[in-house]
Amino acid sequence: MTVPLFTDRTPEIGQPVDSLPTPAVVVDLDVLDRNIERFRSLAETHNVDVCSHTKAHKIPAIARRQQREFGGGVMCQKLSEAEVMARHGVDDILLVCPVVNEPKLEQLCWVADRTDRFATTVDCPGNVEPLQAAARRRDESIDVILELDMGLERMGVRPGEDAREMASFIEAQPDLELVGLLGHDSHVTYGAETEAEFEAGCQEIVEQLEHTVDALRDGGSDPTRVISGSTATAPYLAAADVVTEIDPGRYVFNDVETLENGHTISVADCALTVHTTVLSRPTEDRAIVDTGSKTVSFLNEPLPVPKHREDVIFYNKSSEHGYVDVSEHDESVEVGERLEFVVPNCYGAVNLQETITGVRDGRVEEVWHVAARGRDK
Ligand SMILES: Cc1ncc(COP(=O)(O)O)c(C=O)c1O
Repeated sequence: MTVPLFTDRTPEIGQPVDSLPTPAVVVDLDVLDRNIERFRSLAETHNVDVCSHTKAHKIPAIARRQQREFGGGVMCQKLSEAEVMARHGVDDILLVCPVVNEPKLEQLCWVADRTDRFATTVDCPGNVEPLQAAARRRDESIDVILELDMGLERMGVRPGEDAREMASFIEAQPDLELVGLLGHDSHVTYGAETEAEFEAGCQEIVEQLEHTVDALRDGGSDPTRVISGSTATAPYLAAADVVTEIDPGRYVFNDVETLENGHTISVADCALTVHTTVLSRPTEDRAIVDTGSKTVSFLNEPLPVPKHREDVIFYNKSSEHGYVDVSEHDESVEVGERLEFVVPNCYGAVNLQETITGVRDGRVEEVWHVAARGRDK
């Protein structure tokens, strides 16, 4: 039995955000709306679908909204996350992690049975064969997307001839239907130091996709879904004729990583922040706040950045503390005051929250259960 604590009380609708116990991870709903609208307009301009990655929020209500706003459904990295989404009414899911053994193949078929459209990625005979066997047992075919390695060197078959050969192998499976290609491109963003390098990297992705689609068509396949375009690269990839769907994740919230890599994103576009309280001013220069890696996660190293002021710097962290350099402060930073920071990496931050509070005009408007948090299987 869990005994509810004072600080576990669900925020009340209408409650001022400044009265939430800290650390409090909150979403600015106006910013969230703007971020979704930006991608809706991008998709409409270029006539592409948006297959949003749910790892960025893990909240079914947001996934259902993304499914309503865009064609393209949602993308889940983990099968258990996909099951949570399906149980909460999401019915168009692309699983982007091959499933190769039981009992997970049975779980995959369960998700496929309960969605209107379901597909999963594969990239080699070793993950195609068990999926074929599962589809045969299910007595209904399963749609698959061939994952390409666009240079990240994670999973995926090399574009071009290797992809054509794998496509033929899939086409030979009686119970699998090859419906498209996935070319994940995040390495372009991290690898580029200048705008010109970034654009050249995106252009190379486009050319590799075109080349691969041509090769597959020559081999008799017709990939109708061609998916590429994460948050930073989406504006470029959406404009390419070959791309039918972009697959951004963190665009709903944005985070410090998007600020560092995004080309047009500012702090004002970051919806997911952590509200902290100053616990101590051990020295003139230092404030200690109540947020560390147990609250926001520091997956890829960047530290939180302040949302509304530029005179403080979050410069170090431990599991429960944030170290803030206030030597240049213009406004006061007293013990008991609150500081708000953009979270470094939204994938990690949401995974640590039981609930996330949505705020508009300084007051609570939504309280979401992060239903897929910790669903890593
Ligand atoms: C296959 C795939 N697509 C899309 C994304 C989303 O990337 P971003 O959150 O940067 O938009 C990821 C992130 O890891 C991914 O693995």
